[in-house]
Amino acid sequence: YFIYDIYILFMKYLFSFLLYMAGMVVTAQTVIRSGELWPDDRGQHINAHGGGILCHDGRYYWFGEHKSDNTSAALVGITCYSSDNLSDWHYEGVALPVTDVPGDDLERGCTMERPKVVYNAETGKFVMWLHLELKGKGYSAARYAVAVADRPAGPYRYLRSGRVNAGIKPLDMEGDMAALDTLDAWKDDEWWTPQWRKAVKDGLFMRRDFADGQMARDQTVFVDVDGRAYHIYSSEENLTLQIAELTADYTAHSGRYIRVAPGGQNEAPAVFRHGDTYWLITSGCTGWAPNKARLFSAPSIWGPWRQHPNPCRGKDADITFGGQGTFVLPVGNTYIFMADIWRPKRPSDARYVWLPVTFEHEMPVINWHDEWTLDLETVGKE
Ligand code: DGJ
Repeated sequence: YFIYDIYILFMKYLFSFLLYMAGMVVTAQTVIRSGELWPDDRGQHINAHGGGILCHDGRYYWFGEHKSDNTSAALVGITCYSSDNLSDWHYEGVALPVTDVPGDDLERGCTMERPKVVYNAETGKFVMWLHLELKGKGYSAARYAVAVADRPAGPYRYLRSGRVNAGIKPLDMEGDMAALDTLDAWKDDEWWTPQWRKAVKDGLFMRRDFADGQMARDQTVFVDVDGRAYHIYSSEENLTLQIAELTADYTAHSGRYIRVAPGGQNEAPAVFRHGDTYWLITSGCTGWAPNKARLFSAPSIWGPWRQHPNPCRGKDADITFGGQGTFVLPVGNTYIFMADIWRPKRPSDARYVWLPVTFEHEMPVINWHDEWTLDLETVGKE
């Protein structure tokens, strides 16, 4: 009987231990189902498109574009949600609202896209960068906008908007201004001819916008391990990406910038660093319709950037699973590729694609999963 008692006792302990472990697993695991409705803590589908995520003091803050049912124009502003497990999202509110001041940069009806927030350890401020288009002006303004806050969820104080690095030549531009001036001849030429393409690669639109500053549309911000931050944006009529270093407080451009994939027509940049390699995932330019993702790598943020095949694999890999990239979130020792499935007929119904980035032969690979589990206990936070 003694042995039997010990056996029962042991089984009791084992059972409670297993229950405890199961509980831990349940709380630590985040199940991600791309393309479905993702309710927040109010039961409403998360409205934070073209977004990015900041991890601060162990909590994740998701910033994105608030979309309405009938228009993609900004009627509300940039929203913020927070979570400690990337699954249960608390609505924090509007971090950077539109205004009702006629002629104001952020006047209701303007376009506010692809916001990204970074934390500056020196100033203790949170800095938001976004793509801004002025009300009633379509996509012609092609400006960056910047705002700061004392707390991650805001409120953000709007600083200014503008074009990038007026009067400054990119670091990687060979030839003097006189040589660039010869490109001007192609400025009003018919687009897409071989001569025009060559002129674009050589800096035709960089030269055209030299005095007033470079165009900035689809964008992201990347902070390197040494604390330097970079603004990466579609420039030069969406034909060429640029990477511009930010000042030490992250609120302005330092004047140092390069051109990436000149004439390559890249949008939706998302940057991450794995070991000593910088990776850049972009899309082509097809409006709200999905297209094939592109992948680039470089040994330094300043390049040289080299293009690789599409990192997506499997069904619908050639249309990025119906989405367009927006951000790559490092979580512990793993990475999440975040994309948007746009719904231009009902913009607020746009969906999210979050997929793990794995490595094969040292190259990032993105596979579709109807459902996958992120185990925060295993991968670690931040
Ligand atoms: C594609 C961009 O990636 C989006 O952010 C948005 O600007 C649309 N174009 C507008 O057509």
